[in-house]
Amino acid sequence: MKFDFRKQTVIVTGGTRGIGRGIAEAFLETGAKVVATYQSNEKAAEEFTESNRKYAGCLDLRRFDVTQYSEVENFYREIEQTHDEFQVLVHCSGIRVDSIVGMMPEEDWRKVIDTNLTGTFNMCKLAVQGMMRKRYGRIIVITSPVGRFGFAGQSNYAASKAGQVALAQSLSKEVASRKITVNCVSPGFIDTDFISDLPEEQKQTYLNMIPLKRFGSPGDVAYPVLFLASSEAAYITGATLEVTGGL
Ligand SMILES: NC(=O)c1ccc[n+]([C@@H]2O[C@H](COP(=O)([O-])OP(=O)(O)OC[C@H]3O[C@@H](n4cnc5c(N)ncnc54)[C@H](OP(=O)(O)O)[C@@H]3O)[C@@H](O)[C@H]2O)c1
Repeated sequence: MKFDFRKQTVIVTGGTRGIGRGIAEAFLETGAKVVATYQSNEKAAEEFTESNRKYAGCLDLRRFDVTQYSEVENFYREIEQTHDEFQVLVHCSGIRVDSIVGMMPEEDWRKVIDTNLTGTFNMCKLAVQGMMRKRYGRIIVITSPVGRFGFAGQSNYAASKAGQVALAQSLSKEVASRKITVNCVSPGFIDTDFISDLPEEQKQTYLNMIPLKRFGSPGDVAYPVLFLASSEAAYITGATLEVTGGL
């Protein structure tokens, strides 16, 4: 399937690194204008810009914190001024700060819930306002199978990821009449900075759990996202697509 997003503007949060970068680059290849956002890692943002120099006219980078409602409001205000409208939001930014419940500092609980779940609310709330007026939109939230199965040491992350799915399903029902679809993509283990701190032995254990016997790449996640963002996926909403190598 060949995708064509030449007339569309796509926002990808967490779009300068890891899975989000893979998604942003896949959209650039289809001719989309891409607004890639990040929080603070200037080095990664510069590297991303440099290696996508050929798309300079189509690429716009913005730095803000998705947990800060006022920063999110400013972001959308600026996007409206610069790009007029956008058709697709891929909300990919996220963090994990692991520890078992009995030992988890309250601030780590809040930080992960704020970033992953409240950040999703902030980004989606202000995105649908514009999409409702245009009566078209595609929202794709990057969640995780951990939200469905749970994982020892990741209660905050699992709760935030389960919450994303519940938020997306509810939102999909609210905006369906305006031809806006809201779906989740749920990647398994994807080889990015996100899992680079895991001990080698643990990585091997996880690898053995994956029927396809490899970690995924950001590109493996990007193409299912393009599909859900395409006009051909008009009848899919409130769904979660797992991209896990069979995990
Ligand atoms: N990698 C995996 O195995 C895996 C599996 C399942 C689900 N996921 C999900 O996929 C998403 C992306 O993961 P990844 O592996 O690509 O992670 P990553 O390489 O660590 O990238 C995370 C991105 O999120 C941005 N970000 C973090 N906190 C933010 C905040 N408060 N405001 C704005 N942006 C923020 C980061 O910005 P900076 O660059 O400025 O730090 C970065 O661009 C996450 O939601 C994660 O839960 C990942």
